[in-house]
Amino acid sequence: MTIVLKSKADIDKMRIAGRLTGEALRMISEHVQAGITTAELDDICHRYITEKQEAIPAPLNYRGFPKSICTSLNDVVCHGIPGNKKLKNGDIINIDITVIKDGWHGDSSKMFFVGRPAIRAQRLVEVAHEAMVLGIEMIKPGENLRNIGKAIQDHAESHHFSVVREYCGHGIGEVFHEAPQVLHYDSPQNNVILKPGMVFTIEPMVNAGKQHTRLMSDDWTVKTRDRSLSAQWEHTIAVTDTGFEVLTCLPGDAL
Ligand code: MF3
Ligand code: CO
Ligand code: CO
Repeated sequence: MTIVLKSKADIDKMRIAGRLTGEALRMISEHVQAGITTAELDDICHRYITEKQEAIPAPLNYRGFPKSICTSLNDVVCHGIPGNKKLKNGDIINIDITVIKDGWHGDSSKMFFVGRPAIRAQRLVEVAHEAMVLGIEMIKPGENLRNIGKAIQDHAESHHFSVVREYCGHGIGEVFHEAPQVLHYDSPQNNVILKPGMVFTIEPMVNAGKQHTRLMSDDWTVKTRDRSLSAQWEHTIAVTDTGFEVLTCLPGDAL
């Protein structure tokens, strides 16, 4: 598959979509509290994105996905469907938001703690974040995606966690998921030399137990096969002439 390079003008538009994505994640953070349901979180995001941002929540009706955001709780790896489950103290949850503005996508997710996390849950969330950050910081023209995948895998495994293989990062632009695939582990099939104008996500899913996943009967929710906890962080990043620009990071915020 050919990788579409984005022009400076394209990236200007992706910067706007990325900022809206970051702002939606910031907006929802204060609502992530014990007692709220994931459907309520979805509803708040849906209204914010459509009414305040005058943008489109990309997941809604994407290949039949029924909601506007993904909410992946505890042993859910990704693509959790918001529903009537209430958050409770000690939960960890990933909220994944993708906004379309003026035809361009921004895609980002963060982990949230409900109340106080267990030490092991906290460590998992931190290591998944560190893995994403070290992958992002390697991005520059001439770097090979394979090395980035390997560095992410090495970091997770050095903490005795595992990296999910079945789901990966992706090119993004006017299309939600496009080339290249961004694997978060080492693979000889993953030789892609980065060039200015490439835009893609890095979104490692890190499991406390084994790497294997299971697709639930709703055909969306992905859980760890061994029911261990899973954590994920995601940003949309552009390759610049000299390095990278994180399009979904708000000015002044940490990654
Ligand atoms: N936002 C997810 C990603 O990071 C994709 C969600 S697809 C959906 O690529 F249909 F589940 F929303
Ligand atoms: Co993504
Ligand atoms: Co996403």
